[in-house]
This record gives sequence, C-alpha cells and structure tokens, in this order.
Amino acid sequence: MKKMKLGNTALEVPMIGLGCMRISELEGTEVADYLEHCLEIGINFFDHADIYGEGECERCFAHGIKELGIEREDIIIQSKCGIIPHRYYDLSYEYIIESVDGILERLNTEYLDVLVLHRPDALTEPEEVAKAFDELEEKGKVRYFGVSNHKPTQIELLKKYVRQELILNQMQLSIQSSSMISSGIEANMITEGSIDRNGGVLDYCRMNNITVQAWSPFQGPHGAFIDKNELFPDLNWALGEICAKYEVSKTAIAAAWILRHPAKIQVIAGTMNPYRISEVAKAPEITLTRDEWYRLYQCAGHILP
Ligand SMILES: NC(=O)c1ccc[n+]([C@@H]2O[C@H](COP(=O)([O-])OP(=O)(O)OC[C@H]3O[C@@H](n4cnc5c(N)ncnc54)[C@H](OP(=O)(O)O)[C@@H]3O)[C@@H](O)[C@H]2O)c1
Repeated sequence: MKKMKLGNTALEVPMIGLGCMRISELEGTEVADYLEHCLEIGINFFDHADIYGEGECERCFAHGIKELGIEREDIIIQSKCGIIPHRYYDLSYEYIIESVDGILERLNTEYLDVLVLHRPDALTEPEEVAKAFDELEEKGKVRYFGVSNHKPTQIELLKKYVRQELILNQMQLSIQSSSMISSGIEANMITEGSIDRNGGVLDYCRMNNITVQAWSPFQGPHGAFIDKNELFPDLNWALGEICAKYEVSKTAIAAAWILRHPAKIQVIAGTMNPYRISEVAKAPEITLTRDEWYRLYQCAGHILP
C-alpha cells in the first residue's frame, strides 16, 4: 500500500485508512479476522470516535488487536471527540480530557496517534482547547492533533491559541458529495454547485499543509451510490467502463477518483466487507486520466460551466 505523510509531520500513513464506525456490527472472531485482513493488505491506520457504537467500536477493536497480538507501534490509531449524540457539541477543556481518558481505556492503549475534534462547537473557547491539548501532549496521551468538518476560519481561530499543529481536517468527500470541489469549479456562476459551503476549505488545507481525510467516500445523500443504477445510472455506467479498463471494481475507481486530486487526500473507508476493502486498497495504484476524472465528476451530476 502506498503511503503518505499526514500534514507537516513525519507520520507515514497508508493512503487508505479504515473507518471503524461500524466495526461493532461484526461478531466474535470476525473483528480480529477483518483487522488481520486489513493489515495484510497494508491498512494499519484506524479511524475511531468516542461515539461510534456508543464506545463499543473502540472496545471491540481493542479486543481484536489483542487477539492478534499486534504491537501498538505497528498500528496508527486516531479517535475523535466533541459530539454528545442528539444533545450538544462540547469542546470544553473538561470534556476533551474526560473523553480522551475514556477513549484510551476502551482502546486499551497508552496513547492516541491523532486526536481529532469531531465537529465545531459553537460555544468553543479556543483557550480551553489549547489547555487540553497541552496537557494531553505533556502527559504523552496524544501525539498529534486534527479537526473534522471545520471551515478555514474555525481552524484559524483555534490556531490563534493552540500551540500544536493541526495536521488534518476530516471532511465528507466522494464523487457524489464534492461541494468543496464543485464550488471551485463553478466559481463566479449562479449555480447550485457554486455555493461555497466550506469557506474554500480544500485550497486552505493545501496552502497550510493540512491533510484532508475523506469520510463517506462511497456514500452521498442517498446512501451508497455504487451499483444503485436506478438512482445513478450515468455514474454507474461510467464507473463500469472505467473499472473494466483497470481490471478492478467500481469501488476501487470511486476511491481512485478521490486520490487523483492533487491535494493528496487520505481515504477513510468504512466498509466491513473483506472483498470491498481489498478493492479499495487497489486504488492507490490507479491514476485516472484527466478525462476519466472529469467524466466521473459530470456523470455524478456536477456541471462544468
Ligand atoms: N468526521 C465525521 O464527521 C465522520 C462522519 C461519518 C463517518 N466518518 C468516518 O468515515 C468512515 C467512513 O464513512 P462511511 O462508513 O460512512 O463511508 P463509506 O466507506 O463511504 O461507506 C461504507 C458503507 O457503504 C456500504 N457500501 C455499499 N456499497 C458499497 C461499495 N460498493 N463500496 C463501499 N461501501 C459500500 C458499506 O457496506 P459494507 O460494510 O457491507 O461494505 C458501508 O455500510 C467511518 O467509518 C468513520 O470512521 C467520519
């Protein structure tokens, strides 16, 4: 598996990471078997959040890793905090510290490679985030820090107080959900796609060496779009033709579409299906032509002005 660096750091990660949001749906030894399969195909980066499966995803992941006897240094673990489901967001000092302690306990580890602020909290006091990050770094509980679903100005506000670099921003991105790309392409047009929902976040992250991680790379507002021919016939037709050329599945091409963007985006795949994750793992070997990239983009319903 090809590797890339996160942000400005020396931390090398595979271009495909596994999102563990549904790992607790696997049963018994399936978790260890699936993790072993992922490691065999080069995926040793795992994305978590304190809320996934109400903590159960982190617990069963830790159990699987222990069963396999994997050394901690051989895997890279990221988790997120800040969402209290259905109630509020919380990036206060107390909550961040308490959340990380819970994450470390459930993951059965001394440290996180990356801690990510899951969503912007309207009541954030960046001084408190800074205090929490300093403490977590000093105690060796977190190596690196990042954000998710943040706009450039929200990152700038954090950077005014936080000493550590914010090395990544995890954002929703797929061929289907690509407003951060279409707002650039449709600049200066009175079109739906021209609406800038993220404050130019993609260019901002590139300019500031912040890695963009793509969440939900195979899903859009209508769920998974691959093989949903009744909803996305053009996209599936184009994916089908292009995947035949590269002798992979449509899933690999959908991931290769994200990786073809020069921003050096890391794909966070959430499938729990061994065949599908093997296909996704082939994506870093594929470089779509400009023609193929734009064809898929347009077949997904986006326009070129
Ligand atoms: N930061 C955030 O706010 C945020 C939000 C959501 C997710 N995330 C992270 O991103 C990760 C990925 O998100 P996600 O799971 O929503 O995205 P995804 O990888 O796009 O979606 C995977 C889901 O789509 C299904 N699927 C159906 N057909 C598929 C195909 N041909 N190829 C691949 N998957 C197909 C999978 O089912 P099977 O399992 O049966 O393959 C699985 O349920 C999560 O695990 C989580 O770590 C972050």
